[in-house]
Amino acid sequence: MTLLDELSEVVGVAFSQAGLDPSLGAVKPADRPDLAQFQCNGALAAAKAAKENPRALAERVVGFLKDQAVFQEITIAGPGFINLKFTDEALSSRLNDLEKDDRSGGWANTEPAKVVIDYGGPNVAKPLHVGHLRAAIIGESLKRIFRFSGDTVTGDVHLGDWGLQMGQLISELEMRAPDLPYFAADAEGPFPEEPPISLQDLEEMYPAASAACKSDPARADLARKATKALQAGRPGYRALWRHFVSLSVAAMRKDYDDLGVEFDLWKGEADADPLIPELTDDLKMRGVLEASDGAQIIRVARDDDKKEMPPIIFLNSEGAVGYHATDIATIVDRKRSLDPDRILYVVDARQRLHFEQVFRAVGIAGYFDEAGLEHLWFGTMNGKDGKPFKTREGGTLKLRHFIDMVTERARERLAENGFAEGLSEREADDVARKVGVAALKFADLSNPRTSDYIFDLDRFLAFEGKTGPYLLYASVRVRSVLEKAANTGVGAPGPITVRMDEERDLALALLAFGDTIRETYKKRLPHYLCDHAFRLAQAFSKFYAACRIVDESDNAVRESRLGLVAATGRQLALILDLLGLEAPERM
Ligand code: ARG
Repeated sequence: MTLLDELSEVVGVAFSQAGLDPSLGAVKPADRPDLAQFQCNGALAAAKAAKENPRALAERVVGFLKDQAVFQEITIAGPGFINLKFTDEALSSRLNDLEKDDRSGGWANTEPAKVVIDYGGPNVAKPLHVGHLRAAIIGESLKRIFRFSGDTVTGDVHLGDWGLQMGQLISELEMRAPDLPYFAADAEGPFPEEPPISLQDLEEMYPAASAACKSDPARADLARKATKALQAGRPGYRALWRHFVSLSVAAMRKDYDDLGVEFDLWKGEADADPLIPELTDDLKMRGVLEASDGAQIIRVARDDDKKEMPPIIFLNSEGAVGYHATDIATIVDRKRSLDPDRILYVVDARQRLHFEQVFRAVGIAGYFDEAGLEHLWFGTMNGKDGKPFKTREGGTLKLRHFIDMVTERARERLAENGFAEGLSEREADDVARKVGVAALKFADLSNPRTSDYIFDLDRFLAFEGKTGPYLLYASVRVRSVLEKAANTGVGAPGPITVRMDEERDLALALLAFGDTIRETYKKRLPHYLCDHAFRLAQAFSKFYAACRIVDESDNAVRESRLGLVAATGRQLALILDLLGLEAPERM
C-alpha cells in the first residue's frame, strides 16, 4: 500500500463514521507544504452533495480523526480543507520500513501484465532522426519502470529493415559493381560470408541512391523492382540484404549501448513478412480485405469519426506490403510468440494516424484486443529555431555524433566547474560520457512526453536546477558521505528518528516514491518520476546543508542521519536506474 493509500484509508474511515462516502477521504500531498504535509478536500464535495456547510462537515470528520495517534496536527483551513501532519514517530517508523525495503517503498502492480514495448524503429542504412532518439530514451525508461512494477516486459527494437531503402541500396550496388556474385540472374548461392562493402560504403551509398531515385523515375523503377525481388526471395538479394542488416545492426548496438539502451529482441519488419501470405488469405476469408483498384484494402473508418480515417492499403497494386501490413503482421507474430496482454509503441506523434489505423484493423480482424494496444506518442525535440533539431551541418543527426557532442560539452563543463580533477584520463572520459548522456536523457524525460521541447545543451548540463548532472552530483555526494563515515569509523547507519524540519522534508520526499511510481506507471509519463527525483535531490541537499552528519557528536542522532543518507542513496540509485541514467562513482 502506498502512503497516500494508507492515509486515504484512515481518513476514509472517519468519513464513513461521519455518515459520508469513504471515498471522499482521498488524501494528497499538501498544496502549501509550509502549512501541512497532506490534505483532504473531501468535505467540500460532501457538503455540496448534502447542501451543508463544508466547515461544519469537516469538523465532524476531524472529530473522528482525533483518536488517530499518527497525526501530530489536524487543522481545518479555508472553506473546509482538512490539513494533516504526521507525528515524528509515525514518520520515522514508516521511514525505517522503507530503509529496509530493497524496493524503497516502490509501488507494485497487483495484477502484473505481460507487455511488449516497441521503442526503437531505426532504419537499416538510413540515418536516425530525432524521433528515434526520443523513442529510445523514453521507451527504455518505461520498460524499466514497468519491469520494476512487476510486469513481464520485452523490449523490441523493431528495425526498419524491409522498406524501399533496401531495394534502393541493392540496385545502387548492382550499378556500381555488377560483377558481384549476388547479381547473377540465376545465382542460388552459397554467397560469401564476408560483406562485399563496409559500413562506411553503406552509409555513403544510401543518400546517393535515395537522391538518384528521387530525381530519376527510371532509377526509382530499378529500386522498386529490386525491392519486389528481395521480398519475393531472390537468393542473391536476400544474401546482400543480410549483409546490410548485420553491418548496420553492429553499429547500432554500440550506439544504443553507449546511450544505456538495451533491447531484448532485435527483430525487424522483415521477421513479420513470412506471415503475409497466410494473413492475406485469412483476412480475405474473414471478409476484412476488400479489392480496390487492384490493391487489397481494409476499411477502418467508424460512423462516429470526427476526422478522416482513410482505409489501410494492405497490399498495393503490385502485391507489395507496406508499413501498415508489416505492423499488423508483427502484432500477430508477437501474439503467437509472446502472447502479451499489451503492446506499447513509443513512436513519435507524426505516426498517430498510422497506429490508429493499425489498431483498428487488428481489432476488426480479431487478432488482438484493441484496448491492449497503445501508441505512447511524443513531441519533437526542436532546435533553438523551433524546428526539429538538426546538426550544425544541417543534416539529420547520427546517434554517434550526438553522444560525442554531449560528452565533449560535458567534459568542458566539468572542467569549468572544477569537477573531475585528479581523475585519470580514462576515468575522466567515462565521467564525461555519463554526465553528458544523463544530461540529455534527463532533459528529455523530465519534459512531459507529449510536448515538444528545445534542445539546449548548456541548460541540460547545468549543475544546479532540475538537470541530470544535479541528480548525479547528489548521488555522488551521498556516496562520499557514507564512505567518509565508514573510513572514519563513526558507526553505521542506524534507526531513523526525524527531529529537524530538513529531516522531515527528506523523509516525506522518500515516502512519496511509492505513489510516484504508481502515477508514472499508470499514466506512462516518466516526467513524474523526474519531478520526484528532483524533489528528493533538493531535500537531500537542504538536509546536508542544515544537519551535521559524520561529525555529529550524539551517536543516536549521527546514526539516524546516516540512516537517512543510506535510504536516500538507495532510492536515488533505484531512480537513476529506472530513468536509465548511469551515475559515476566520483565527479
Ligand atoms: N522505422 C520507423 C520509422 O523510422 C519506426 C518504427 C516504429 N515502430 C513500429 N512498430 N511501427 O519511422
